Amino acid sequence: MGAAPNQETNSFLPDKSAKVFVAGHRGLVGSAIVRKLQDLGFTNLLLRTHADLDLTHQSDVESFFSTQTPRYVILAAAKVGGIHANNTYPADFIAVNLQIQTNVIDSSYRHGVEKLIFLGSSCIYPKFAPQPIPERALLTGPLEPTNEWYAVAKIAGIKMCQAYRIQFNWDAISAMPTNLYGPNDNFHPENSHVLPALMRRFHEAKIKGFKQVVVWGTGSPLREFLHVDDLADAVVFLMEKYSGLSHVNVGSGTEVSIKELAELVKEVVGFEGEVVWDDSKPDGTPRKLMDSSMLQALGWSPKISLRDGLVGTYNWYLEHVKE
Ligand SMILES: NC(=O)c1ccc[n+]([C@@H]2O[C@H](COP(=O)([O-])OP(=O)(O)OC[C@H]3O[C@@H](n4cnc5c(N)ncnc54)[C@H](OP(=O)(O)O)[C@@H]3O)[C@@H](O)[C@H]2O)c1
Repeated sequence: MGAAPNQETNSFLPDKSAKVFVAGHRGLVGSAIVRKLQDLGFTNLLLRTHADLDLTHQSDVESFFSTQTPRYVILAAAKVGGIHANNTYPADFIAVNLQIQTNVIDSSYRHGVEKLIFLGSSCIYPKFAPQPIPERALLTGPLEPTNEWYAVAKIAGIKMCQAYRIQFNWDAISAMPTNLYGPNDNFHPENSHVLPALMRRFHEAKIKGFKQVVVWGTGSPLREFLHVDDLADAVVFLMEKYSGLSHVNVGSGTEVSIKELAELVKEVVGFEGEVVWDDSKPDGTPRKLMDSSMLQALGWSPKISLRDGLVGTYNWYLEHVKE
């Protein structure tokens, strides 16, 4: 990408009374960003639930921006879901996400927002991208078919930020986080990601006194996890420090095998039984790691170890998730 990747803006952090619209503030990502901004002393956060403001409704989004005139926008609202949901509702995944991001990005530009950050995910990259995946791998090959509807919408969001920067010299940036976990994650028994799913299963096995937990696959695939509070820290960092054309990967840089992850979650939860690997079930892609060297070169690094992050997440689970 052509623009200076480390051009400093230095404008976000000083004014803690600036109006910041955090779209999707009750989600995993949005809620962590709100916690971070509140910790930093921001006093003028604009927050709207989905019921208060449906971001797919263009005229409502327009009137929100014209009356509220936020100075900064953090776009963490999206329709997200796993493989099953993507396969069952492809039209929703492409249409809802295109609508949300188009409405928010365009209204932000036209109503004088100074800077916007758009959040996507690692699924934007080709199925056979080089590992670790650098930013430049975008649009170099076919996508993973199971979530291409979602991925195409997210790619359009990156491109929209780039296009508005090129045509209007407007400060819109994009961040692509790796697999996230933390408070407010989805612990649903059937359609949650691997980490919260393991936590729930070990917890239930401990409570019910089971001797074994069966986990699909061999446990050999390598994955990267980032605590959502680290992501929130990176988002604030990018709002302050980065104004380039390229999207920016946000990862922890640390790989664990699913087997190592399961052992760690088991230990944190305190399940004393056995983990049985059902290797008749599919493993999924062998390795998925983001190349976050661009963000590291800008001066950011993660602070929360996987073990500490899991302990905090399990405490949150115990307080918030009903059996
Ligand atoms: N979770 C991960 O591991 C992960 C990893 C990488 C990137 N990300 C990215 O981070 C972003 C947020 O993900 P998340 O995990 O925080 O998702 P989430 O927990 O499902 O939160 C999404 C939020 O968006 C809101 N929303 C959805 N549709 C809306 C609409 N039409 N109008 C207004 N609000 C709406 C939701 O409100 P309701 O619940 O009320 O609908 C929810 O608060 C996404 O762009 C995702 O790609 C997530």
